[in-house]
Amino acid sequence: MIKNDSHIYIIFGASGDLTKRKLVPALYSLFVQDLLPEKFALLGVSRSQFTDDEFRAGMKSAINEFKEIDNVTKIDDFINKIYYISVMFDDASTYLSLKQRLEQLRINMNINGNTLFYLSTPPSLYSIIPRHLSSVGLNIQDDGWKRLIIEKPFGYDLESAINLKDQLLHDWTEEQLFRIDHYLGKETVQNLLVTRFSNGIFEPLWNRNYIHHVEITSAESIGVEKRGGYYDGSGALRDMVQNHLLQVAAIAAMESPSSLEPLAIRNEILKVFQSIRPIRKEDVKSSAIRGQYLASTIKNEKIPGYREEEGVDPDSETETYAALKFYIDNWRWGGVPFYIRTGKRLPTRVSEVVIHFNTTPHFLFSQGAGHITSNQLVIRIQPDEGILLKFGMKTPGAAFDVQNVNMDFHYSDLSHQRIPSAYERLLYDSIKGDATLFARTEEVLEAWKFLSPVIECWKNDKDVPLYGYPAGTWGPEKADDLIEDKEITWRYPCKNLSDDGIYCEL
Ligand code: BG6
Repeated sequence: MIKNDSHIYIIFGASGDLTKRKLVPALYSLFVQDLLPEKFALLGVSRSQFTDDEFRAGMKSAINEFKEIDNVTKIDDFINKIYYISVMFDDASTYLSLKQRLEQLRINMNINGNTLFYLSTPPSLYSIIPRHLSSVGLNIQDDGWKRLIIEKPFGYDLESAINLKDQLLHDWTEEQLFRIDHYLGKETVQNLLVTRFSNGIFEPLWNRNYIHHVEITSAESIGVEKRGGYYDGSGALRDMVQNHLLQVAAIAAMESPSSLEPLAIRNEILKVFQSIRPIRKEDVKSSAIRGQYLASTIKNEKIPGYREEEGVDPDSETETYAALKFYIDNWRWGGVPFYIRTGKRLPTRVSEVVIHFNTTPHFLFSQGAGHITSNQLVIRIQPDEGILLKFGMKTPGAAFDVQNVNMDFHYSDLSHQRIPSAYERLLYDSIKGDATLFARTEEVLEAWKFLSPVIECWKNDKDVPLYGYPAGTWGPEKADDLIEDKEITWRYPCKNLSDDGIYCEL
């Protein structure tokens, strides 16, 4: 780990939830680990009126509440590096005040022009703030680097994503843009790369000759919480599939990069996006399933249905569950189905990639529980991060009965060190200027292009069902129909890496 260049980190939307829960605690963790430079300042920017001291007090309690690192001895030192300015985001004149404040901080702290602008704001401001920043010259890199970090959603559909791209690239270069997809910052998603490309045993099997299908799940047990207003205009496809799940799929499917250079890795990821077979309009119904959670009772607690949630239209047609089947048309993956699913109010919180290998060509032994034994490699992203290999073993006894057993590795066994949060990793990389784990323009556009027929069809075709599923279940049963091979089903993972099957904790 290297200590980074002196810089000023500016967070727009500084009074918001993300700043409090994720960004400032992540920066504090970097500070405690001595990964921030001596000369560093954090400037919070939002509409609210605060003095520096008031904002510092708010951030101090946020760190105490949401810190990701035990050490609290350095909170005051860190807090003293925080400043605040109120800005009306759409008023050009206030950006001059922002520029002056920045210059004053630079002079006081003897920092050059290196600046990061993190937009933790509603997406409607993604084109407005960068334009105003450039109108006062804050995109110019004469006196130091300038980087712009934006959070998803990067557009609402293909058209809006293209517009956003045009607006951003009018004043900023691709190299200055860092699009956060926090799944890419997860340690275990990066470990997928290492598992694949540092082991001689997996890579030779990692192709259509040995793999039957790939299954990617991101299940959440929570509902939409307080985010109904945002979520109702988004839905599971835009919220999770367009970004997180397709990115994870791309890492599982990519070719080995020629080096660890950001460009080399990102080029390979892009090639996967470019190779995903488009879903034809007429195939949407058989390739994508949507659902919405209904009220139910879990452990005697009444759980409201999606349409009863705060901020949600009582007649909402927004999906809280999406499952998709697609193919990657290249030599490695030709004919191998990829199944991905995500949903809110499922039985547990779990994200994993499962590689299902082909069965043996001939079944010599009887199968213990009546299943056809197929080897599975489960790469667990969260929780209980780790890797599990399932394979057939002889059941002790006179007969040749075979049962599936687990060989598992838990990430927590590797070291007693804590796993850094996704934001900690991504903020660190953004300061370092390493864009490997950030989504680049072409990937984002390819992902929207791929999903466009599904988005269109779900919006316009009233015949495409939106299936209800009781909160706390694994989503619409209809999702089983996506799976071509009727001998197999989705995996039903549980919170613990090694326990799975129909049991899951409720
Ligand atoms: C966010 C989505 O990007 O990811 C949320 O907007 C979702 O709806 C969250 O809950 C899931 O992230 P994680 O890291 O908890 O799996």
